[in-house]
Amino acid sequence: MLIKQAPDIRSSEITPERLYYNRRQFIHAASGAALGAAGAAVLGQPAGELQAAPQEDLGELRPSQFSTDERQNSYEEITSYNNFYEFGLDKEDPKRYADDLTVKPWTVRVEGHMNRPAADYALEDILSPHTLEERIYRLRCVEAWSMVVPWVGFPLRDLIQRFEPTSRARFVRFETLYRPSEFRGQRARNLQYPYVEGLRMDEALNPLALLSVGIYGKTLLNQNGAPIRLVVPWKYGFKSIKSIVKIEFVEDQPRNTWNVAIPHEYGFYANVNPDVDHPRWSQAMERRIGNFFRQRTQRFNGYGYQVARMYDGMDLARNY
Ligand code: MTE
Repeated sequence: MLIKQAPDIRSSEITPERLYYNRRQFIHAASGAALGAAGAAVLGQPAGELQAAPQEDLGELRPSQFSTDERQNSYEEITSYNNFYEFGLDKEDPKRYADDLTVKPWTVRVEGHMNRPAADYALEDILSPHTLEERIYRLRCVEAWSMVVPWVGFPLRDLIQRFEPTSRARFVRFETLYRPSEFRGQRARNLQYPYVEGLRMDEALNPLALLSVGIYGKTLLNQNGAPIRLVVPWKYGFKSIKSIVKIEFVEDQPRNTWNVAIPHEYGFYANVNPDVDHPRWSQAMERRIGNFFRQRTQRFNGYGYQVARMYDGMDLARNY
């Protein structure tokens, strides 16, 4: 497979030295290169005894003005109660079968209407120009539960601007890895795969849309969508597609997996909306994982101030 260099300036030119050093550790690990004794010592593991997928410390992170100060869910909660149908239907399946998936090396194909060359870009090249930050976001699942997660990532818009989409690019389409040999859910065909999601271009350029590579300061575990996933905090969780291998700038609205599977229950927009019930349950309340009492769901999951304007004049009951 041909892996081209991403169109960017060298990260060492724009990143403070310490951050750059930490980034190199992550990139080095993410590339699947065998860590030498020095690298292993830095990560607190004896050389030669590295686990299949050691979690890398992502170093110093810039805090975000968009972070909530609500109580964060624990690392245990965030990594053991998941939706990732490629690993199975139960909330415990993603953790149980996470080790089936190999995430190193990883490439992301970027293509479509843009001024840069379409190619498979190594994950390191996708990440290297970006400064990582911590964004503590509420995640509201369509099944009426929610969590507060300290994501690590960078704004999707920064990546989009690097690739210079043309005016024909009205939507961004994302695809998850299709590898039935490692995803038992794909072997069982429990959904139509590969998992696909999409955003309208203005949504994708909204500063809140995040490409995440970690939680709690460490690289993502496979059950959370390693090595790179989307986080769209004002939309139901199914929009936050995991383990992305393809980003495409397209003219037509993509057909997203859950909309294809059950169109009258799951739409394209999927903005969190307590006033529009799911056909089989109410969306007015939610259960924050770890809390006893349920709480009211907020419009746009509480992010209306940043995003509501994008939907002015749209009927959000029809565009669910
Ligand atoms: N991405 C893929 N590829 N496959 C999935 O099944 N599930 C979605 C989303 N991304 C899913 C996915 C749903 S329904 C939710 S609620 C979130 O991932 C859950 O993310 P988490 O497990 O990290 O909390």
